[in-house]
Amino acid sequence: MPKRTPSNYIIFPLDVPSVKEAGKYIDLLAGRVGMFKVGLELFIEAGPSVVRRIVAAGGQVFLDLKLHDIPATVGRAMARAADLGVSLATVHCGESLRMLEAAVAGADGKVAVLGVTVLTSVTTEDLRSAGFRSELSLDMEALVLHRANLARQAGCAGVVCSPLEVEGIKKKLGRGFLAVTPGVRPSWEAVAGDDQQRVATPASAVAAGADYLVIGRPIRDADDPAAAAAKIADEIAGAIP
Ligand code: C5P
Repeated sequence: MPKRTPSNYIIFPLDVPSVKEAGKYIDLLAGRVGMFKVGLELFIEAGPSVVRRIVAAGGQVFLDLKLHDIPATVGRAMARAADLGVSLATVHCGESLRMLEAAVAGADGKVAVLGVTVLTSVTTEDLRSAGFRSELSLDMEALVLHRANLARQAGCAGVVCSPLEVEGIKKKLGRGFLAVTPGVRPSWEAVAGDDQQRVATPASAVAAGADYLVIGRPIRDADDPAAAAAKIADEIAGAIP
């Protein structure tokens, strides 16, 4: 992990549909956030070139493609992510320990692999209809912890989780197991029509032990995104343990 500074806790998601838009934020925020997250939308549009562009600008990349396939394919895909120079990459935890182990083997110590435990869009009814027994479908927290444990067993570096889950995960799996949290909203910034339900402020997420905060709209929609990132970093500075 790089030496911690307040701004390198921030991961800015490039949730934009074009390379041109992405470039605007890369130029504005390079050096002001710790990492850029490239997800499915931008990766399908722009491919590896956008990752190379960020790396060339001295930035770090969180490649959030949530891999889920047979172990051999996941391992080979992760090896290509490692060649690209990404720092963090995601894989789904829901299938098998072997798939997670293959991801870690493919990453070859060059990429920190993060497990995605249960998507926040999933409801207990979704789990029930997917065939989960009631002890797991009705207890989402137990399922999250069970899958986080599987990820750690496989050698993953950590998980993506809600800020409200960080304490439980760190307690059960150790402080060194990374917790990367979306759902972060600075107290001074309300996002119009916000769809994030289980939110925390940057300071409280960091105080709870979060290692990285994925913060999108409060920065992207600000009049001055660079100033918004700096203000969030100030808030984080007061909370670093
Ligand atoms: O704009 P906002 O700060 O809500 O962006 C959060 C980012 O984190 C988005 O890229 C979103 O897809 C991602 N994310 C999330 N909730 C999860 C997993 C990922 O909001 N459970």
